[in-house]
Amino acid sequence: MSGYQIAPSVLSADFARLGEEVGRLEAAGADLVHFDVMDNHYVPNLTMGPMICEAIRPHVSIPIDVHLMVTPVDELAVMFAKAGAAIITFHPEASQHVDRTLSLIREHGCRAGLALNPASPLDLLDHVMDRLDLVCIMSVNPGFGGQSFIPHALEKIAAVRARIDAHVMAGGQPILLEVDGGVKVSNIHAVAEAGADVFVAGSAIFGARDADGGYHGVMGALRRELSDVGQRERAA
Ligand code: DX5
Ligand code: ZN
Repeated sequence: MSGYQIAPSVLSADFARLGEEVGRLEAAGADLVHFDVMDNHYVPNLTMGPMICEAIRPHVSIPIDVHLMVTPVDELAVMFAKAGAAIITFHPEASQHVDRTLSLIREHGCRAGLALNPASPLDLLDHVMDRLDLVCIMSVNPGFGGQSFIPHALEKIAAVRARIDAHVMAGGQPILLEVDGGVKVSNIHAVAEAGADVFVAGSAIFGARDADGGYHGVMGALRRELSDVGQRERAA
């Protein structure tokens, strides 16, 4: 499937040169810039705000995929929409009124997503499928880059894939299935096989810089793993 999208997470980037880093990501073929926002309240870490999103916006032409690991959500969601976000994803447990927050994100011209933690049940998607442009399955517990992929996420990805396909078959709008956390060259094929179409990777990409400072090598390796999804097992 040619529709696979790679979304490097800048959480692992060199923050002293963030503008250059996102430019290098785009040059290496990234489809999205994944922007991890943490408030040291919803998760035990503190990262970056709307100002940084605004600062990197001129350095890339690809969409900025904002992942809000914050509570409350609404005010920050609007600030990130104004700062140039294209997609805004939040955790349902972090919003008092999930339906209203999803509508607010779309009203401000962004695509809306929900991120489900490893222990969050899929029934959090009930009643909001027609409000969603993206579902993000967390394959680590949110808060830090460089963690190991949680294997049971694969079953969850397959279950959400089935839900999205049924939704679209019934006339619903397309919904992207994003996977976030511990995605590497070694496991991205399995994650795609399970049904994902957007792949967040932070440490796997920023930990594999080319000699010239770019990311063509690891992005090419990730693309190669995606190139024969669905064929490899048949050849075996
Ligand atoms: C974790 C973040 C992820 C993470 C991905 O809370 O949402 O986006 O930074 O980084 P890696 O790929 O290093 O797990
Ligand atoms: Zn993320």
